[in-house]
Amino acid sequence: MTSLGLFFIVTLLGYCTVYSRPAVGHLRNMDSFIQAVQQVEEIAGHDDAMTVHFLGTSHIYTAAASLETAILNTSSFSFFDKALHHIVTDNGEERGVVLAPDGTTVALAPLMLGIEAGLNAQTEGTPAVGLFPLTLGRTLGLTFLSLQDFPPSYRLGPNGCWDNTEHPKVFKLYRPATIATDAVIYGGMDGIILGTHLVNLAKSESIPPLSEILKGYYIFNLLEGKGLDDLPGKISPKRRELSRSILEPLNLQNEVMETLALVWKLERTEWIAFDTGIGQALKEGLKEFVKKYWDCPQIIPRCQWGAKPRDGTPIPLSLPLDHLFVHHTYTPSAPCLSFPDCARGMRAMQRYHQEDRGWSDIGYSFVVGSDGYVYEGVGWNTVGRHTRGQNSIGYGVSFIGNYSSVLPSRYSLDLLRRWMVQCAVGGGRLVSNFTLKGHRQAVNYTTCPGDALFSEISRWENFRE
Ligand SMILES: *[C@@H]1O[C@H](CO)[C@@H](O)[C@H](O)[C@H]1NC(C)=O
Ligand SMILES: *[C@@H]1O[C@H](CO)[C@@H](O)[C@H](O)[C@H]1NC(C)=O
Ligand SMILES: *[C@@H]1O[C@H](CO)[C@@H](O)[C@H](O)[C@H]1NC(C)=O
Ligand SMILES: *[C@@H]1O[C@H](CO)[C@@H](O)[C@H](O)[C@H]1NC(C)=O
Repeated sequence: MTSLGLFFIVTLLGYCTVYSRPAVGHLRNMDSFIQAVQQVEEIAGHDDAMTVHFLGTSHIYTAAASLETAILNTSSFSFFDKALHHIVTDNGEERGVVLAPDGTTVALAPLMLGIEAGLNAQTEGTPAVGLFPLTLGRTLGLTFLSLQDFPPSYRLGPNGCWDNTEHPKVFKLYRPATIATDAVIYGGMDGIILGTHLVNLAKSESIPPLSEILKGYYIFNLLEGKGLDDLPGKISPKRRELSRSILEPLNLQNEVMETLALVWKLERTEWIAFDTGIGQALKEGLKEFVKKYWDCPQIIPRCQWGAKPRDGTPIPLSLPLDHLFVHHTYTPSAPCLSFPDCARGMRAMQRYHQEDRGWSDIGYSFVVGSDGYVYEGVGWNTVGRHTRGQNSIGYGVSFIGNYSSVLPSRYSLDLLRRWMVQCAVGGGRLVSNFTLKGHRQAVNYTTCPGDALFSEISRWENFRE
């Protein structure tokens, strides 16, 4: 398989890093990684074909192998090695992952393998056969099989928390890791999206350098009033819908099965071949994958936006609920357009609710940003404080911004109307014939969620007077 190529990138990039001693910070974020890639590209000369060369078939394996031994013994060599090598330590630290600017933690190995498979196929003019197995297929197949005796929801994930999102160094998982941690899944999705994009470049188009490919996908600016609407191109907040549109037409169960057969052949793990429950395990597992990563929106967890702990004991909700209340935050009054911006808004709201209002936590169940993400408030299982007298019968979801006279972007509206709803109903948290209301319908002292937004939601399915 093409993992040889990846090995080659690691070594060659590492080699250049060692001898040029560039001022690469060792922060585990995507910017540092891209910066380091860029430095290597500069050292290598401004030749776009260089990227292809890094990522193409490695025909000088022995040279690479001897470079590696030299490099591994050099104390300054660490960044690429650590950045690409995926492991989970005994104390639950996940390595080989970086924090992307959109607030998502991504494993680099499946990302780079996807890009590599795409580049190989594009330059050789062949179909990208290895793309799915290398990015997601192997991971999914092995996690579903190895954890057959656990409930399907336990066979995927978990997510985790960084020590500090501005200066990320250590990423700790919430619970024992599966083979398919969230970061590995997200890296796999990004790898398949970028790999497919590269395969589809016309043969005559020049292939951008690796750093440009990564920048185009991870680093972008959203415009006020537009958010993700009408934004052409492939960018990281759309990873769920983009990966779904690429993979859903395939028969995933067959694809995973074929991947496992290949894994068995290459790694000689006979237990896979003789296991009769494979079909069932894959079917259940893929169903869970679709529910968790495609039907639900990506929700930025509390630790990621820097939540303070709640004061006092949470009161559990009794699920499923039958109401969904829609709010706007009013202040912050501007829609937030990036992860740092939305996270700051979340912290400000929590501070206001806890310190000025004396509540135990941020009041909302969830908050929708204009950066393409939903932010976790008190979450699915805890009674919030959003709609007087009705907090225990419904979720309270707020849009960041003042929607008295303007609307959130279509994309943000869809995050609630389509994604949160299908996630909540599919996950048994909300009954399917639930009642959707604006905050103003439940109490008579507010115009929340604003005239414009209220008029919008009054046309949604499930809205009731
Ligand atoms: C790496 O360094 C150690 C100790 O300095 C040495 O024993 C070993 O042979 C070196 N390995 C290689 C592959 O150079
Ligand atoms: C919210 O928007 C309305 C209508 O544009 C405006 O009158 C009001 O001052 C705004 N409030 C804040 C806090 O921005
Ligand atoms: C929702 O469905 C349940 C069960 O079918 C029914 O008892 C309930 O009255 C329905 N609620 C509404 C608001 O239609
Ligand atoms: C609305 O306000 C009036 C007067 O303040 C109050 O008596 C009444 O109970 C309120 N109705 C609701 C639904 O809160």
